[in-house]
Amino acid sequence: MMNQGDLTGDRKARMIETDELFTIKEASAWATEHLGKTVTTSNISYLIQYGRIRKIGNDGTTQVSKKELISYYKSYNGYRELSWKDQLGEDLNWALSFDQYKEAETTKHVHRLHPYKGKFIPQLVEYFLDSHTDNFKKETYFKRGNIVLDPFSGSGTTMVQSCELGMHAIGIDVSAFNVLIGNCKVKKYNLLNVQTEIKRITNALKIFLSNSHILEFEEKLLQALYEFNNKHFPVPDYKYRLKRGEINEDKYGVEKGKEFLPIYNKLVKAYKIKLRQDKADTFLDKWYSQHIRDEIQFVFDKIKKIKNADTKKIISIILSRTIRSCRATTHADLATLIEPITATYYCSKHGKICKPLFSILKWWETYTRDTVKRLFQFDKLRTQTFQVCLTGDSRTIDIFKELEKKSPRFAKLARKQKIKGIFSSPPYVGLIDYHEQHAYAYELFGFKRQDELEIGPLCKGQSRESKQSYIEGIISVLNNCKKFLVDDYDIFLVANDKFKLYPTIAENAGMQIVNQYKRPVLNRTEKDKGAYSETIFHLKQK
Ligand SMILES: C[S@@+](CC[C@H](N)C(=O)[O-])C[C@H]1O[C@@H](n2cnc3c(N)ncnc32)[C@H](O)[C@@H]1O
Repeated sequence: MMNQGDLTGDRKARMIETDELFTIKEASAWATEHLGKTVTTSNISYLIQYGRIRKIGNDGTTQVSKKELISYYKSYNGYRELSWKDQLGEDLNWALSFDQYKEAETTKHVHRLHPYKGKFIPQLVEYFLDSHTDNFKKETYFKRGNIVLDPFSGSGTTMVQSCELGMHAIGIDVSAFNVLIGNCKVKKYNLLNVQTEIKRITNALKIFLSNSHILEFEEKLLQALYEFNNKHFPVPDYKYRLKRGEINEDKYGVEKGKEFLPIYNKLVKAYKIKLRQDKADTFLDKWYSQHIRDEIQFVFDKIKKIKNADTKKIISIILSRTIRSCRATTHADLATLIEPITATYYCSKHGKICKPLFSILKWWETYTRDTVKRLFQFDKLRTQTFQVCLTGDSRTIDIFKELEKKSPRFAKLARKQKIKGIFSSPPYVGLIDYHEQHAYAYELFGFKRQDELEIGPLCKGQSRESKQSYIEGIISVLNNCKKFLVDDYDIFLVANDKFKLYPTIAENAGMQIVNQYKRPVLNRTEKDKGAYSETIFHLKQK
């Protein structure tokens, strides 16, 4: 009998029983029509790469089965909306899922300058700030020239979108590093100067590296891994067999991981690689191998010499992003950080043996290029408006006084026209420790941590007492901010209020909830991809 892999010839001959085979291009056209949304050829390749559907054909003409495509899409897309509504309620507003946007759009330009856990997508901010109306948003709330406030500015999404929409914005965050991220996103740079300084540092780093054996070691290791992985984890067959349950991943992964270790250890010995630092007292001691730590210090010392303050800040952000990617952790554990690793390991995310990093160069070069590209993109979209993020506790900060210190012109305007409203996503009870997620940056840059001023941190849990203190915290923020708002303000707060605290909060802040928009959150980075919604509370003066 003919093997599916041997099938070639004209289109009609490509029928197997009732099935039909598509080339990748045909599959993308068919799926686009069938689903009523654009499915690109790279979407199809992705499905093959990740073992969702089979690759058929070994003669260079990759094909896929229509039957498998149908069952894949049936299992996921069409039913998602219905099943999410079943779980979360019919009032789920699917128009606010923004599922038509690709990841490149939800992380457009400066929004992806640095990782940050807990940010909202720019399209959501745009939706409420811009001047369109629809069946759900029947009025516009902000217009060009207005001042928008985000008292929990985080990575600065509200400020960035305000800048794009011709609005001024004030951000506030208690975490100094978040303030740096936000301000770096909205700053107008001398991009030539940024590029020149990057080039200078990259060249110096390359010279620093050429004096060590680290790159040669990595090259040898990569070659050994390439051969080993090709043999034991062939792409895409291995993942396809995994998905079908033909391989016990845990057992096979551990076995092969062990088999590779002697090869790895031999190379480490031959190149005299120091895997750990002598101390493990601080984050930077514990989570970086000796060489990476030395490279980080080397680059940081070069950054300190940069004269232009804005250039210095944005390049610090690049370094921070780089070192975040270079922590001695497995790929699967990037978000949680359990224990540092110093050896090769089986990686379930990539389905092969992976290695820790031994130099920052690759990520440094990737992120320098990426950052410059993103700054150029945003530079074309920005408007001539003011955006400033202030470091402080939103419960007590004197907004205009602090603004005066950063930008007297903006402060003058703000005192005159006052703030039109708020668009913000407050922290929620016991979910994230915002300082801790960037512990490496606080240590390296020496910023003061103010963990004790965070509202609702993870470390305080979700006890009754924590909820009470959260309620009081958010009420204080609203009461404080109110002093700087126009009377007819509009406040939009985004929260997954699973403990139903916001009605009490609004009441005690002298406000009323005039509308609630419940939106599905589709592209969560968390492992749990289950049905999840958040509510946008619209508050006004009572
Ligand atoms: C959910 S995040 C905001 C994310 C933001 N919307 C974004 O897109 O990046 C909440 C932020 O509130 C900040 N925060 C917590 N307590 C605060 C306080 N008392 N005053 C000001 N900011 C605070 C945290 O540091 C965190 O960055």
